[in-house]
Amino acid sequence: MTNLAAPRKIIIDTDPGQDDAVAILLALASPENIDLLGITTVGGNVPLALTQKNARIVCELAGRPDVLVFAGCDRPMVRPVLVTAEHVHGKTGLDGPTLPDPVMPLQDQHAVDFIIDTLRREPSGTVTLCPIGPLTNIATAFERAPDIIARVQEIVLMGGAYFEVGNITPAAEFNIYVDPEAADIVFKSGAPLVVMPLDVTHKALTTKPRIDAFRALGTRVGTAVAEWTDFFERFDMEKYGSEGAPLHDPCTIAYLIDPHLFSGRHINVEIEVTSELTRGMTVADWWRVTHRKPNALFIGDIHAEGFYRLLADRLARL
Ligand code: RIB
Ligand code: CA
Repeated sequence: MTNLAAPRKIIIDTDPGQDDAVAILLALASPENIDLLGITTVGGNVPLALTQKNARIVCELAGRPDVLVFAGCDRPMVRPVLVTAEHVHGKTGLDGPTLPDPVMPLQDQHAVDFIIDTLRREPSGTVTLCPIGPLTNIATAFERAPDIIARVQEIVLMGGAYFEVGNITPAAEFNIYVDPEAADIVFKSGAPLVVMPLDVTHKALTTKPRIDAFRALGTRVGTAVAEWTDFFERFDMEKYGSEGAPLHDPCTIAYLIDPHLFSGRHINVEIEVTSELTRGMTVADWWRVTHRKPNALFIGDIHAEGFYRLLADRLARL
C-alpha cells in the first residue's frame, strides 16, 4: 500500500553512483508521491565534476531535462582530501551502460544556496531532504543558515551501519566516513531523522531474478538499470560472497512512497569524529544502554520483495 498523502516536496542530495541513479529514477517515476524540487550534487563516489554530470545524465535518461541540478561542495568540511569509491562505481561513477553526455544545463546557483533558499521560501515543515551521499552540502547549509533547520520537514538519508559494521573501513559506512564532521552536525541538528544504514540496505540485494525484471521492462531505463546493477554488484559479491549487491540509495525514496516496507527503532545515533581507527562510525544505541536522547529512526529491516516490486513497477513508467 503506497502512501496516499499529497506528494512530498523533496531535495535529493547525491553523489551518483549507480544506486543514486536508481533513487533519482524512482523519484522521477513517482509524481503522485514525490515533488522533486531539485537535485544537489556533492563530491563522493567520484569527484564533483562527475557527480554533477552524472545527475544530469540520469535526468535525461528519464526524459526530464527540466529538473534543476546544482553542484555543491567538492570536498569534506574539515578533512583535507575527498575519499572516492571508483573501485565500486567505476571511473565515471556510472560505469555499466554507455550513455550520452548531458545537454541539459547545470544551474549556476551553488547547491548549498539552493538548499537554504528553498527551505526559507517553502512553508516551514514542508520540505524533506534526502541525502544519499556524504553530508557536506547539508551540514554546510545548516552551519551557514541555522534558521533553516527548524523548517526541515524530515531528513531521510542513506548512511551509517551498526550490526552490518563498515564497508569502507571495518567501522564506517562510506557516506559518513567521507565527511564525519558533516554527519556529526546533521545528526546533532535536531531535525527529524530517518536513517537507512547498511543494516537494512544489505537486505535489499540485486539478485538475478530482480535484475532480470529490470531488463525485461525492455525500455532504455530498464536496460540501463540492469547494466548498472550488473556492474555495481561485482564488488559486493566478491567481498561478501553475496547473491547480489545492496541497492542502497533507493531505500530512501521507497520509504517516502511506502514507509510500511521498512521497520526500525527510534534511538540515539552519534558519529565518531576523533579516532582515526573508527572515524565515521555511527554509534547506534540499538539496545538503549545509554540515556542519550533518541535522535533518529534507525531502520533495520525491509520487505525486499515489496521493495523490488515497487522499483520495477515505477521504473516501467519511464
Ligand atoms: O555506502 C553506500 C553509500 O555510499 C551509497 O550512497 C553509495 O552510493 C555510496 O555513496
Ligand atoms: Ca550515494
